[in-house]
Amino acid sequence: MKVLVTGGLGFIGSHTVVELQHKGFEVVVIDDCSNAKEDVLDGIEKITGKRPLFEKIDLKEKDKVEDFFDRYEDVEGVIHFAASKAVGESVEKPLLYYENNIGTLVYVLKELCKKNRASFIFSSSCTVYGQADKMPITEDAPVKAAESPYGNTKQMGEEIIRDTCKVVPSLNAIALRYFNPMGAHPSAEIGELPIGVPQNLVPFITQTGIGLRDELSVYGDDYPTPDGTCIRDYIYVVDLARAHVVALERLLNGKNKENYEVFNVGTGKGSSVLEVIQSFEKVSGRKLNYKIVGRRPGDITTAYADTTKANEELGWKSKYTLDEAMKSAWVWEQKIRD
Ligand code: WQD
Repeated sequence: MKVLVTGGLGFIGSHTVVELQHKGFEVVVIDDCSNAKEDVLDGIEKITGKRPLFEKIDLKEKDKVEDFFDRYEDVEGVIHFAASKAVGESVEKPLLYYENNIGTLVYVLKELCKKNRASFIFSSSCTVYGQADKMPITEDAPVKAAESPYGNTKQMGEEIIRDTCKVVPSLNAIALRYFNPMGAHPSAEIGELPIGVPQNLVPFITQTGIGLRDELSVYGDDYPTPDGTCIRDYIYVVDLARAHVVALERLLNGKNKENYEVFNVGTGKGSSVLEVIQSFEKVSGRKLNYKIVGRRPGDITTAYADTTKANEELGWKSKYTLDEAMKSAWVWEQKIRD
């Protein structure tokens, strides 16, 4: 029995492949290499000693998706990461996001519906909550109108899966709503490889720390939070990867209560931008060069997860602290800049 990981060369995908292999799964990776290099497979192999099967396929090509599933009849589980994920870019190029994030999801689901039984894990995001009214955020918090086409593709993706599971009992799916993934594998063989100027906070911090960027711009310190900067739930990518394995095993072992379930995946703890900066300075021993500037349009003030459902139902809990995750991000940054 094989597990397909689409987008498996990406940041979260590659860490999930490692954790799947540690648990003894045979993994096949599909990636179109539009946002990741094939040599990520070398890093995975260095960590686990097993090179996953790999197929360079653009999932927008329906016939290629059908052909893949014809050739791999023993794929019973799919973890679907493949998607474009830059919030800002999605505003500029909505149709690229709807085609790539929704079209590919539909093609993969159509193939799974042909099987006697299929288990599907969907990479969703806390972005579906927008600015939630109550903290910490529970899974039954209302889904709010998306602030970007990227966020909308996550909401639509969940609805497509939910509607399909309603009429296809053999399809069992879990949507994992990530909070803010960060860090790199402790081996420093794989990690986050942002292309161009990083949009996300942590890679921008480590690139500033290593001297690649002159200074970090902190987008606003006039928010209604204790230190005025935005609060997020930063989750270590290895914790997040392990949540995917636990969720897949839940479905493969028939432990799911319904054939479509949703779980928040976060630490349950909020950290402000300034606290994240302090964490970097503590683990690196370096002062970070930053300045406070105006707010970034579209940013919400606060988001951190209520992890009760994942802890109690899924039996998963994050294990690493912000400092440990930040340390791994810094070690990775130093390694790739050497
Ligand atoms: C975090 C905080 C910024 C950069 C996004 C997506 C979400 C998910 C994770 C894909 C915010 C501040 C940032 C900088 C800063 N992506 N910041 N200076 O916006 O919470 O979430 O990435 O799934 O869907 O929306 O993450 O890292 O961009 O920002 O001050 O140079 O850091 O204002 O408060 P965000 P982020």
